[in-house]
Amino acid sequence: MCQKNSPGPAFDPVADIPDLSGRVALVTGANCGIGFEISKRLAARGAHVYLGCRHAGRARKAIEDIKEALRQEGGHSEKLGEKRVVPQLDWLELDLATVGGAEDAADALLRREKRLDIIVCNAVILSKKYELNEDGVETTMATNYLGHFALISALEPLLLHTTTLPNSDVRIVMMTSALHTKVPSDTKLHSQADLNAPKAQFLSCKDSRMACYRRYFLSKLAIVLFTRCLQRRLDAHELPNPIIVTCVHPGMVSSSNMKSQVPAPFRPLLPLFSISPARGAHTPLFAATAPVVRARRREFAGQYLVPWGKVGKVAKAADGEDGEALFRTSEDIVRSSGRGRQR
Ligand SMILES: NC(=O)c1ccc[n+]([C@@H]2O[C@H](COP(=O)([O-])OP(=O)(O)OC[C@H]3O[C@@H](n4cnc5c(N)ncnc54)[C@H](OP(=O)(O)O)[C@@H]3O)[C@@H](O)[C@H]2O)c1
Repeated sequence: MCQKNSPGPAFDPVADIPDLSGRVALVTGANCGIGFEISKRLAARGAHVYLGCRHAGRARKAIEDIKEALRQEGGHSEKLGEKRVVPQLDWLELDLATVGGAEDAADALLRREKRLDIIVCNAVILSKKYELNEDGVETTMATNYLGHFALISALEPLLLHTTTLPNSDVRIVMMTSALHTKVPSDTKLHSQADLNAPKAQFLSCKDSRMACYRRYFLSKLAIVLFTRCLQRRLDAHELPNPIIVTCVHPGMVSSSNMKSQVPAPFRPLLPLFSISPARGAHTPLFAATAPVVRARRREFAGQYLVPWGKVGKVAKAADGEDGEALFRTSEDIVRSSGRGRQR
């Protein structure tokens, strides 16, 4: 885990993100927390950023807030003689809670864009109640993992097409958490039943706070396995300019998500053991844009990154698991839900 006093990042998003003019990025859960900061920095370097959010009002406010923040930064950099970037930000309506919601958003983006250079799958929930969604999937797993699986699957043709464009550098960044290592070492994610957290410890106390965290840990393990498997499958295309997939633990970040988990009297203490959302955005932005990741692709592709861009150690439960069984199960659920069901 990233502690507040660990050495700072060598990669500075304000100074080190290359020019992204002409590139298109999608950030899920972008209206607050780390996703907001990621979107801001990508837009600051000229990318056309889609904020994938479920609430129009929150998305529009985030867009205005980012524009205002960049206006203020722009004023400062103009004084230093730097060129002002006009931020391009749009709302993409996206509800990841179901396969259909993710696919609708992908369809809308496919209608609007001819390229997609960066996806940051950042949105998250910690569902307090144990519930299955309309696809029969537990809601934490559905939002944090399966919705993103469906979104990427639907956008894959556009991502592959983008690799054929001049100077392409297509990257997929999946947000996970160091807490994925908290799952029992014998955890398997092979079937839909496994995704729904069937183990006794989940069922016996399925609406308790601990059970809610365990479902979160499991969804973040799914993301680690998916990252590895997706990279291997994309590599099989033998693209001249391959897509790089990584998953990232951003550090302990004082976002609204984190604050809501801490009892109110202790919230003033949060800055002592957590970093700001802006700093939490460093490692995902490194994964999404740092030239060194492309230059040393073999070192980073398919890997789990921790602050500040180091390859981390994955959970014991991921040892020897290649994620194929999870991937096939996810494909089956997607096929029998969303677009598949409409056929
Ligand atoms: N904060 C940490 O310490 C920490 C540590 C490790 C990993 N991470 C990871 O970093 C990422 C960002 O965390 P954060 O703390 O910045 O989160 P956050 O502030 O709670 O933001 C979560 C975002 O996800 C969105 N979201 C929730 N359900 C959604 C749905 N069904 N469809 C679309 N969007 C949805 C939320 O939108 P609404 O506003 O509409 O709810 C919000 O924009 C997460 O993947 C998290 O697991 C965070």
